[in-house]
This record gives sequence, C-alpha cells and structure tokens, in this order.
Amino acid sequence: PTIHVITPTYSRPVQKAELTRLANTFLHVPNLHWILVEDSQRRTPLVTRLLHETGLNYTHLNVETPRNYKLRGDMRDPRIPRGTMQRNLALRWLRETFNVNSTQPGIVYFADDDNTYSLELFEEMRSTRKVSVWPVAFVGGLRYESPKVNAAGKVYGWKTVFDPHRPFAIDMAGFAINLRLILFKPQAYFKLRGVKGGYQESSLLRELVTLNDLEPKAANCTKILVWHTRTEKPVLVNEGKKGFTDPNVEI
Ligand code: UGA
Ligand code: MN
Repeated sequence: PTIHVITPTYSRPVQKAELTRLANTFLHVPNLHWILVEDSQRRTPLVTRLLHETGLNYTHLNVETPRNYKLRGDMRDPRIPRGTMQRNLALRWLRETFNVNSTQPGIVYFADDDNTYSLELFEEMRSTRKVSVWPVAFVGGLRYESPKVNAAGKVYGWKTVFDPHRPFAIDMAGFAINLRLILFKPQAYFKLRGVKGGYQESSLLRELVTLNDLEPKAANCTKILVWHTRTEKPVLVNEGKKGFTDPNVEI
C-alpha cells in the first residue's frame, strides 16, 4: 500500500529545518506520498521549492487557520487545535481523489512536522486493516504513553495519566488508518469546535472504529518508534529591529 502522510506546517524560522529533516526520513520509505498542508493564505515559494527538490511523491495544499480561532483562549470556546483545519483538508483531498471502490490500497498517517519518526514505524503501519496503534514518547508528562494491550493482543485501555478515560487517549502520532475506512466514512473529520484538550484524536477515531477494532503494532505496543519531540525556538535577538543578516538568504 501507499502510505499517505499528512503533515500540517506553518511558516517560522525553523520550518525549513523541520521539513528538511522530515523529507530526509521519508526518502527512506518506499511507496510514500506526502500530503503537506500549509497553514497559510497561499502556498509559499519556500515550501514549493523544498518539496520539488526532495524528489518525493507529494501533494502540496494550503488552508489558513483564521486568526481569531488561533488566538481565542477562553474555556467555552477554546482555540482550534494546531493543524486541525490542515488535516481535515487533506482528508477531503483523499476522498475527492480516490473513489470509494478504489482498489488502490493505502494507509493514512498524521505526521506533525516536528516529531521524530523511525523507519520501522512505517513498516509497522503498512499492514493496518482498520486502525493500528502504538506508543508515543514524550507526551502527557510521561516518557511515553501507550495503549494497554492484553495477553490476547487486544487493546483494552490507555496507559496515560492525563485523562485515560478519553475514548482514544492517544496522540496524533500514535495511530494510522486504512484509506478504505477513510473513504467508507466520508463524514469523519476532526472536530473544529467544542473539543477539549486531548480530545482531538478521539473526535476523528470515534467516527471510524471502536476500541475492539484497534490493531496494536510495535511488538504489542512495547517498542517506541515515534517521539513527540518539539524544537526549541531559536533566539534571534542580535538581528535587532531591522535585521542584521541578509533577508534574501532563505533559512
Ligand atoms: C500536540 C499534538 O501532538 C498535535 O498533534 C496537536 O495538533 C497539537 O498538540 C494541538 O492540539 O494543538 P504540539 O507539539 O503541541 O502537538 O503542536 P505543534 O507541533 O506545534 O503543531 C502540530 C502541527 O500543526 C505541526 O505539524 C505544526 O507545524 C502545525 N501547526 C502548528 C500549524 O499548521 N499551524 C499553527 O499555527 C501551529
Ligand atoms: Mn509538535
């Protein structure tokens, strides 16, 4: 199957570095299709060039998260989680591009631009029938969070401290979905509104599967194959107000 990797991304000093590292990983993965969705009004020249130069098989999309959504922070109407509109656009693209009866086997994976992905992860997700799951390191205030798997190899809960009673207490990086399921359930999207922190993943997954359907990977969820790393913001104080370095040099 083709692995359709969906990545939301936005402009900032480290963007090109993040995307370069990601592309370098993906270049080692056979049969990968990168759906990169910019959180911007237009597709930017920086990302356009970078994608082209990687030689990867890719689709370049964009949708801007409205400013007022990003800034809003009150409890009754919390901000839209980062990357949500971008991931939903990619889901729509898949549904418009592949027919429900399409025999094209595919896997869908949401890969944020700052995480760290082992190559083994992509081999594990390739056999996903409905939804496969595995642990993710550095989330929820733990070394790693993981699905709980019983002796029979069934997922029966979540080894998390933060709200283990969520329907699917799993980070975005911890699951992959068979493309067929995405096409069979055309109404399934990430919810944009009224989603409490940590419930974004559940808002999509509950439309697609039940706990019983989940397929544990990574040696019954005993191996860490993905890390929720976050890149430190570079300190650019010496640029000053006008900027010190040549602004025409792309970083
Ligand atoms: C955590 C989760 O791992 C994300 O999957 C989730 O979207 C996010 O929280 C959230 O709910 O807000 P975190 O590391 O805090 O991730 O978020 P980022 O890595 O900053 O953002 C997630 C993705 O969205 C990244 O690929 C990032 O490039 C993109 N993003 C972020 C945008 O497209 N626009 C933004 O304004 C910010
Ligand atoms: Mn992140």
